[in-house]
Amino acid sequence: MNTDYIEQYITDNFSEKRRIHTYGVRDTSVRLAKKYGADPEKARACSLYHDMFRRASDEHIEECINKYGLDPKYRHDPDLAHSKIAAIYMKNEMGITDEDMLNAVAYHTTGRAGMSVLEKVIFLADAIEPARDYPSVDYLRELADEDLDEACLAVLERSEDYLSLKGRKMDPDSIEFMNELRKRLKEEETEKKAMDNRELAMEAAKLLDQKKAQDVLVIDIAEKSSFADYLVIASAGSDRQAESLADNVEDKMAELGQNERMADGRKHTGWVLLDFGDIIVNIFSAGMRDKYDLEKVWGDCETVAVKTEE
Ligand SMILES: [Fe+2]
Ligand SMILES: [Fe+2]
Repeated sequence: MNTDYIEQYITDNFSEKRRIHTYGVRDTSVRLAKKYGADPEKARACSLYHDMFRRASDEHIEECINKYGLDPKYRHDPDLAHSKIAAIYMKNEMGITDEDMLNAVAYHTTGRAGMSVLEKVIFLADAIEPARDYPSVDYLRELADEDLDEACLAVLERSEDYLSLKGRKMDPDSIEFMNELRKRLKEEETEKKAMDNRELAMEAAKLLDQKKAQDVLVIDIAEKSSFADYLVIASAGSDRQAESLADNVEDKMAELGQNERMADGRKHTGWVLLDFGDIIVNIFSAGMRDKYDLEKVWGDCETVAVKTEE
């Protein structure tokens, strides 16, 4: 992608401070693009253009608004105007038609719901490039290397605080972006927790199988039940074996940081029930498994039979 023109423009027109900022955004965005799977060349070009109109005079902004038919609401809002004008300049004057690049520049100040990786990369690089200097910037830089969405959210939350101190409201595009990120991150967390529970249930099941329990099953009841996510079911040859299996499971789960809520049925009733909150382990003996037939009760749930290699 040829960027000779904009690079010459930067050399001829930008203050030293703005040039340093722009090249800082370029280097940071290229690094983040490589890390998160956006096109580094596009990131580099967007960075060079993103603040092309940052210090444009009121007259110049007015002229661009008229020339490009932009919404007159940007007239008194240079923070927004400079990003919208830069994007339209790239399209109309430089012939750049890549929508993703145009959006990355147009929304680098506010963000918006439904941002692509490239857009997020430019948005974030603008906030954390090496010349930026504000109290939480080091934390944001660290976060940027860990999770793109979490870092974008932290940048937005910081600017929300900053704006509210100044008695100003956030742009609606930023609010939508923030809400979207919060929702997505919360969903990811719930999913991760569900994965963890699945792994824990499988661990308990594998142990039961290794300790010679019979017909070990894991049933995913998360969708159907409000009291737990997974049932682990196993059969033992006797009450005594059921007790010993229960002890083994308790030890294993304790090792994995799972403590029992309450121990039920430890009275030689043929059914030992260990409640670990999201995971419930049931060990049956003396024909009790058939009597309660949990497999049938939860028949429409995903069931995994656990049998380790002999
Ligand atoms: Fe900017
Ligand atoms: Fe910038």
